[in-house]
Amino acid sequence: MFRVMAKKPQVTWGGRFSGNPSELMVRFGESVSFDQRLAPFDVRGSKAHTAMLCHVGLLTAEERDAIESGLDAILQEIESGAFQWDESLEDVHMNIEQALSGKVAVASKLHTGRSRNDQVATDMRLFFKSACAELDDAINNLLAALVEKADEHGAVTVPGYTHLRRAQPVSLAYQWLAYAEMFSRDGERFRSVAEHANFCPLGSGALAGSTLPLDREFTARELGFVDKEGHPQLTRNSLDAVADRDLFLEFATACAICGTHFSRMAEDLILWSTEEFGFLALPEAFTTGSSLMPQKKNPDSLELIRGKAARLQGNAQTLFTLMKGLPMTYNRDLQEDKPPVFDSLDQTMISLQVLTGVVTGLMVNATACKAASADPQMLATDLADYLVKRNVPFREAHHVVGKLVAMAEKTGIPLNELTHAQASQAHPQIGPDWHKVFHLETAMKNREKPGMPGPDQIRQEIARWRQRLATE
Ligand code: ARG
Repeated sequence: MFRVMAKKPQVTWGGRFSGNPSELMVRFGESVSFDQRLAPFDVRGSKAHTAMLCHVGLLTAEERDAIESGLDAILQEIESGAFQWDESLEDVHMNIEQALSGKVAVASKLHTGRSRNDQVATDMRLFFKSACAELDDAINNLLAALVEKADEHGAVTVPGYTHLRRAQPVSLAYQWLAYAEMFSRDGERFRSVAEHANFCPLGSGALAGSTLPLDREFTARELGFVDKEGHPQLTRNSLDAVADRDLFLEFATACAICGTHFSRMAEDLILWSTEEFGFLALPEAFTTGSSLMPQKKNPDSLELIRGKAARLQGNAQTLFTLMKGLPMTYNRDLQEDKPPVFDSLDQTMISLQVLTGVVTGLMVNATACKAASADPQMLATDLADYLVKRNVPFREAHHVVGKLVAMAEKTGIPLNELTHAQASQAHPQIGPDWHKVFHLETAMKNREKPGMPGPDQIRQEIARWRQRLATE
């Protein structure tokens, strides 16, 4: 009923079989369509393993050199696009090994003391180290763009919001630096995933190591699985080493958190660039028009970024569901671990790049920002603080200022334009100097403790960020 593969028997594991798998099974079971991107890591792992086999006397120096140059040639073919991938060979590992056997007589010795289980675990650890470094770089570019904007907009004030209602004035620079804080935590998270990845599983075999005299430290050193002092770092239990997919969960979770962050920033930028807010204009390069309404300039880039966050959360969820209740050790389910991880890397990376482009190109409407932050009600808390400084208990001060706000609203007179007589009626400690509270520049200067939006603080923070980014 099902057609079997017409090709020669499965060379890598076909010994105990009398026939070939059905074509349907081959199509169903292949992973080479997506795991071929592991080729550079697979070749690195195989070369390190080959060097180790030679080091312990299981290969001669000639055999090692032949295998290594064969692997280099294959990688070149892969990178040039000339390599013929074959889905009947299941995955990247067997494709490369088979290609090697077509080139090098001793290729059949490469898989000595190794299983695809420790091989794929090694490939993925190398992949995670590289992916985390790439993302960390992309985050640093975004941080640099935010710091430049903070410097550019040093003097512009905007309302700070809670509940999406005007709360207290801040500088626009302070807002950009808030995003920088948020994204720098993502960078830290990726660096910590890379540290967790930094242990070599090779030598774990299928699940219980090998009887051959393998030198695991040698392989680990070859592949850069070393601590700061250069000591090799090895996984400590083969069962766990081939079963463990924590890094997949951690990486996808780190991407999902990063995605959540960029979706929040995207939402702010979408809102702030509306006709209603008008604080910002988005760069044309990252907006699109409408096929029907000629006037539209839509923030599609930011909407897509907001949408990607859902996809990144979905990828993390896929992996948690994949792992839940999975028995020790390797199970073929685990082949499904790669597509969500690759997608998380790709979508996080492109979103970070787009967001960096949007930040770099956005234009600020300082007049609109100024008008919005001139709202005197945002300094109501400063007025309460004024009373506190005159020994009025805060709760009482809060109540008094609340009354004044209500009076301002009822009479339609802005809070700062009530007369001194009206104000001092609300509390005798409101002196003739009370209007000074509403001087925005002074209000900002009154916030000069660490972490606050005072202009000196912002200047120091910009300098700190620049220094940090220059040394990374
Ligand atoms: N393509 C497989 C995967 O990604 C490699 C490991 C295969 N191991 C096995 N025992 N079938 O999971």
